[in-house]
Amino acid sequence: MAKKLAIEGGTPAKTTPNPPMFPGGLEIGEEEKKEVLEVLERKYLFRYYGPKEFPSKVNQFEEEFAKRIKVKHVLAVNSCTSALICSLVACGVGPGCEVIVPAYTFFATCASVIAAKAIPIIAEVDKSLTLDPDDFERKITPRTKAVIPVHMRGFPCKMDKIMEIARKHNIKVIEDVAQSCGGSFHGKPLGSFGDCNAFSFQYHKIITAGEGGAVATDDDLLFDRAQEQHDTAACWRPNRFALPRYPGEVFPGENYRMSELHGAVLLAQLKKLDGLIARMREHNRRIREGIRDIKGIEFRENPDPEGDTGISLIFYLPDKEITKKFIEALRAEGIEAGGIYDKGIPDWHIYVHWKHIMDKVTATPEGCPYTCPYYKGPEPKYTEDMCPKTLDYLSRAVHIDIPPQLTFEDDDMIVEGIRKVAEAYL
Ligand SMILES: Cc1ncc(COP(=O)(O)O)c(C=O)c1O
Repeated sequence: MAKKLAIEGGTPAKTTPNPPMFPGGLEIGEEEKKEVLEVLERKYLFRYYGPKEFPSKVNQFEEEFAKRIKVKHVLAVNSCTSALICSLVACGVGPGCEVIVPAYTFFATCASVIAAKAIPIIAEVDKSLTLDPDDFERKITPRTKAVIPVHMRGFPCKMDKIMEIARKHNIKVIEDVAQSCGGSFHGKPLGSFGDCNAFSFQYHKIITAGEGGAVATDDDLLFDRAQEQHDTAACWRPNRFALPRYPGEVFPGENYRMSELHGAVLLAQLKKLDGLIARMREHNRRIREGIRDIKGIEFRENPDPEGDTGISLIFYLPDKEITKKFIEALRAEGIEAGGIYDKGIPDWHIYVHWKHIMDKVTATPEGCPYTCPYYKGPEPKYTEDMCPKTLDYLSRAVHIDIPPQLTFEDDDMIVEGIRKVAEAYL
């Protein structure tokens, strides 16, 4: 006989607490303390002022991270939003340009395009919940300067197709790796495909310093331009007051520099990255194996199962009404499940909720970049129904975070809870 659902007064399947989704943050320990204390003892908190006998932690982190993700240059900055702006500016994105972004990503991806004075063009995601290569190609115009594929919720984008389309149309690629640090696509690390790529080390991310980000590139010129954008005081240059060494090297940037304290934490966190991913992938695999045979559950399409970081388990149900009921029942079972799209629930990850983009709100009344005279396209229209496929997938998706701190016992209880609810509702 089917077990009584917790939502109907039965006993919950999961009785243990759900660890919050701060994968690296909850693993902060002696290693981070040692690195940070070293900085404090030396009293040099700014990377560009330290004497030679105190090698900069930020520099060390950049070198180690560049080796890990197999790129020539890494520039540490204070957030992924900053890293995206640096990458866009480095790639020459500015007034008159369009940049294609997916309809499902954290709002910052889109906001960074506005900060770089360009127009965001919103494209569909496919069943992988990452940029749909076909819609990306459809949205290209003569004004498209760049595309930002976002490796959403731990999964890699279809980087082979995206790179092929981008190269064919001479479009710069800026990967947003905020949510998938350490992942790969066909064996190549995420953040090593695009021209100039962006990472986040904000507290929710796989490794963290509370806040932080990085730009990754193989291109010397893009690297210098990203450095200039991140440090308008030009401390990064061999001689900050010297004339430009080549055209385009020096321009007024901003200040997105990373402090030595953040660099120290990240140096220790980086050593934990592969272990964190291995743990999340293992829990994820165990739960998927436990529910794979359930009819009516369809896993999110994975462009490369070997490259997934394992941070989340997402599956689709037949329609949005069942999805809502299913999630409520899972939560009653003690499982930290959530829906992704519900029109009535604000969420910064879905384009329809990007109110200030949809309404083309700008910081000053002139309305730039939408009214910029350099922009030769029709004024963009953002409507709620412009990406119907994205909304359909998201409204049928059940999302479960997979923190590395789960135990195998937790996995078994999650499986039991999903099976119980599926038996009743599917
Ligand atoms: C996909 C994506 N892009 C960009 C960002 C912005 O990162 P940060 O908070 O480091 O600026 C986030 C943060 O959540 C994100 O998830």
